[in-house]
Amino acid sequence: MKASTALYRYVILLIVTLSLQFKLFSQVISAEEYTSRQKQLLALTSPNNAVILKSAGYKVRSADVAYRYRQESNFLYLSGIKKTNSILLFVPQGFRIAENMVNVLLFDPEVKKDSVANSEHGVNGAVVNSNRFDDIFNSVIKNTDTLFVSAPDLGFVNDWLNNRRIFIERDAYKTLQQKFPGLKIKSAAALIAGLREIKSNDETAVIKKAVEITGKGIERAMKICKPGMREYELRAAIEYEMIRSGCDYPAFPSIIGSGENSLILHYEDDNMKMEKNQVVVMDVGAELEGYSADVTRTIPVTGRFTKAQKEIYELVLKANEEIIKIIRPGIKFRDLDNKAIEIFKEKGLDRYLPHSVSHSVGLDTHDVISGQELKSGMVITVEPGLYFPKDETGIEPEYRGFGIRIEDDVLVTADGCEVISRNIPKTVKEIESIMNR
Ligand code: GLY
Ligand code: MN
Ligand code: MN
Repeated sequence: MKASTALYRYVILLIVTLSLQFKLFSQVISAEEYTSRQKQLLALTSPNNAVILKSAGYKVRSADVAYRYRQESNFLYLSGIKKTNSILLFVPQGFRIAENMVNVLLFDPEVKKDSVANSEHGVNGAVVNSNRFDDIFNSVIKNTDTLFVSAPDLGFVNDWLNNRRIFIERDAYKTLQQKFPGLKIKSAAALIAGLREIKSNDETAVIKKAVEITGKGIERAMKICKPGMREYELRAAIEYEMIRSGCDYPAFPSIIGSGENSLILHYEDDNMKMEKNQVVVMDVGAELEGYSADVTRTIPVTGRFTKAQKEIYELVLKANEEIIKIIRPGIKFRDLDNKAIEIFKEKGLDRYLPHSVSHSVGLDTHDVISGQELKSGMVITVEPGLYFPKDETGIEPEYRGFGIRIEDDVLVTADGCEVISRNIPKTVKEIESIMNR
C-alpha cells in the first residue's frame, strides 16, 4: 500500500472512529469504491480520450459571504473530495510522472510534493500541485482527439442590461479549440450519468441513513405540530434532526406549506401561522455525505384530518401504493405517471395532478439518469399528489384550498422494489396516532 492510499485509509478510519465515539454516522463510501468508479469511467473511454472535471467554487450569497460549500456531484462521485479549486484529469493512455504511469491526476493548489498511488485495483493516480496543470494538460491534449468536460461553473449568465445570454461554456470550448485545432470537446455528463444512476451497496446504505434521519425529523414535527404554530417551527424540528445527525445541510430548501401554501410546489417562505382544519405538506430531505433523501408527508395541523381531507389523502395514498406495486426493472418513468393518472381519473380528479410522480435520487435530489427505463439499483421517488385551488369551482367547497402529496424513496431491485422510507408514518391511522400520543 502506497503512502497516499494509506493516508486515505487512515482518514477514513479516523472518521469512523470519531463517528462511533460521538454516535454520528459511521458509514462512508470505501476507498476501493472510488477506485472502482474511476476504473469504470476509464473503461468507457478510448486511448485518445481525456476526461477533465473541475471542483465546484464557492457560491456568493451576498457581498463577502458565501453559501456553505457543496462539491459538484460528478467530482464528488469520482473522488469523494470536498474541496474547491481542484481539477481531476483522466488519461486513459497514461501519463508519466517520474517513474510511474498514471491514469488519474488530481491537481490541488495546496499539495506540496507530488505523490503517486498505485492501487491494487488497477488505477494509478497522482496528486500534484495545480501550478503544473498547464504543462501537463498541454502535453496530454497533444495526444487526445476527444476531451470530455465536466465543468460546474460553465453555464450561461444573463446579461439583462443588454437582454442577452453569455454562454461561458461555448466560449470556453471555442477558445480551447482555437488553441488545439482538431480537438473535439464533449460534455462528460452522459458518461458519468450511466455510472451514477445505479447505486452501489455503500451508496444505498448512505441513502437509507439519510432517509432515516429525514424520518426522525418528520416524526418530531408530527409530534409538536399544533394550531397557532408557524411553519418554520416544523422546519426547525426537521432540520434539527438533520444537523445533529451529521448532515451538512438539507438537500434542498425544506418545503413546509400549510393551508393554501400546500398548493405551492416549491414553497419556501415557511412563515405562515398554521390554523386548525388545515393540512401541512412537509417535503424535506437530509443530505448525508452528498447523498439526498426526498420524502413528503402531509399532516393535519390539529392531528385529525377532516372528512374531505381524509378522503383525498386515502386516494393519494392509493396512488402511491399502486405505483410502488408496479415498480421493477424495465418499467418506464412514464408508466408510473400513467398509473397515478389512471387512479385519479376514476374519480375525475386526474387534472389536479400537475407534476410527474417520480425522479431518481442520489448525489443530486433530482439525480441523473441515462434513459427512461428503471433499472435494478436505481433509487427513485414515488410522489403522487392532488392540489385543489381555493377558487376551483369544479369541486365541492370542502375540497377547495388544499393539496396532499405523499412521497417515498424506493430502491429498484431485481424483481421489484424496496420502500426505503417505509418506516415513516404514512397511513391516516399512523399519522393521527403519532400526533395524538
Ligand atoms: N422536493 C423536490 C421534489 O420532490 O422533487
Ligand atoms: Mn420532495
Ligand atoms: Mn421528489
